[in-house]
Formats: sequence, C-alpha cells, structure tokens
Amino acid sequence: MRKNIVAGNWKMNKTLDEGIQLAEEVDKLVAQGVPDNTEVIIAPPYIHLAELSKRINTKRVHLSAQNCASEPTGAYTGEISAAMVKSTGAEYVIIGHSERRKYYGETNAILKKKIELALENQLNPIYCCGEVLDQRNANQHFEVVKSQISDALFFLSEEEFSKIIIAYEPVWAIGTGVTASPEQAQEMHAYIRQLVTDRYGEQVAENITILYGGSCKPSNAKELFSNKDVDGGLIGGASLKAGDFYAIIQSV
Ligand code: 13P
Repeated sequence: MRKNIVAGNWKMNKTLDEGIQLAEEVDKLVAQGVPDNTEVIIAPPYIHLAELSKRINTKRVHLSAQNCASEPTGAYTGEISAAMVKSTGAEYVIIGHSERRKYYGETNAILKKKIELALENQLNPIYCCGEVLDQRNANQHFEVVKSQISDALFFLSEEEFSKIIIAYEPVWAIGTGVTASPEQAQEMHAYIRQLVTDRYGEQVAENITILYGGSCKPSNAKELFSNKDVDGGLIGGASLKAGDFYAIIQSV
C-alpha cells in the first residue's frame, strides 16, 4: 500500500544544540499521534545525524541526510559517503535537490551514481525533480521532469525502484512563498506516476510515494495533500518550527 510521508529538509540551518532541541520537540509532538499510514522524516545537516539518532525515537521520526557523495570512499576531501550516512542510523537520503543541482553543478549523470550508492548501502533515496520558472513559462516542465527522472532512475530494476520516493519541487516555489496550485501539483504528480507506469507497470506506480515541495505550510498543506497523486510533502522553511511541521503532518 502506498505510504504517505512528510519530510522536513532543514537545509543549512540549526547548530547542533538548536538541532537537538528541534528534533526533540518534533519527536514529542509526533508521539501524540500522526494520521494512519504516515511516516515522518527529518533531514538535518549531516553532522547532527549520529547525535539525533540517540536522542529521538527513530521508529517514530526517521532520519535522512540531505545529500551523499557520488563516490564510494577515498580521497574526496569534505565529502560524506552513503555508507557513512547509513552508519549514523539514517534510513533515507535526499538526492538531486534543486539547490544541489544549481549551486554544486549536480547533473542527472552524477545523481544516478548517488542513487546507486544509496541503494547499495540500504538507504532509501528521496529523489527531487522540478523545473525552473523559465522552463514552465516555455511549457517545457513535463520534458524537464521526464529527463530528470528517466536519466537518474530508470536504469534501476523494479525491486530497486520500489525503494525510491520522488519529490516534485518546482524550483519557482521553493522558498519563494509562491506555492504550486493544487491543480498544478496534481497534474505533474499524475504525469510522474504515468511515467513510472510506462516504465515499471501499474503496480509499481500505484505504490510509489510522490511528495510535493515548495512553500508548503500549515495553511496550504491540506489542499495540496488532498489530491489523489500527492502523497505528502518535502518541507523546507516550515519544518524549522516544530508546531508548523506537526500541523503539516496532521494535514496529510
Ligand atoms: P520551502 O518549503 O522552504 O519552500 O523549501 C522546499 C524545499 O526545498 C524542500 O526540500
């Protein structure tokens, strides 16, 4: 059965002490209950992962990294491998966030390598896709998302692909306060599910979780998540306040 997920991407926010405080607040709220069939994930900065896995109930609030290296091990100063992420107790890794594509030159070819390494290390990838505003205005958004997904994911076997979570994050909606309309989100999510159907068949497509990300907040989450192909959200700014994040979780 398809799982609903609400994941908080903290990006480059929170010192260790602040991160512990936020994670413990989220954990406490989530302990009060979440909607059926819903998984909660937080993605703090790498260096908080090991500590947070000792401080919170990770069966309740699962941990994700925001990235991993495209090489398995060795002389890559400053990089963090998928195996290292796994060893902290994290279960997920965000791959292909638009900020990594834009500021760090991550291409679909690089992301394909990261996906492979994540899966080899038993991490579930949360793979991000989404168009920039110019591409949407030029009506290229479907093509862009299609190549992001097919280039980095469609080499996987059916079994491997079933471990993927897709996050559609239109770049023009990230951190801008402009949210995709529920219709725009549903249209793209249905398109993505159709791509998966064409490649892996209906059963796999039915079961895959597709998240929406981009200025999702307590006031718009319910409307976005009520669409049949929107299975939760990848939340940036609003995941930095435990109360807001919990309100979004309860909207799923
Ligand atoms: P905002 O929710 O801050 O727009 O960020 C979305 C995002 O990029 C999550 O990965």
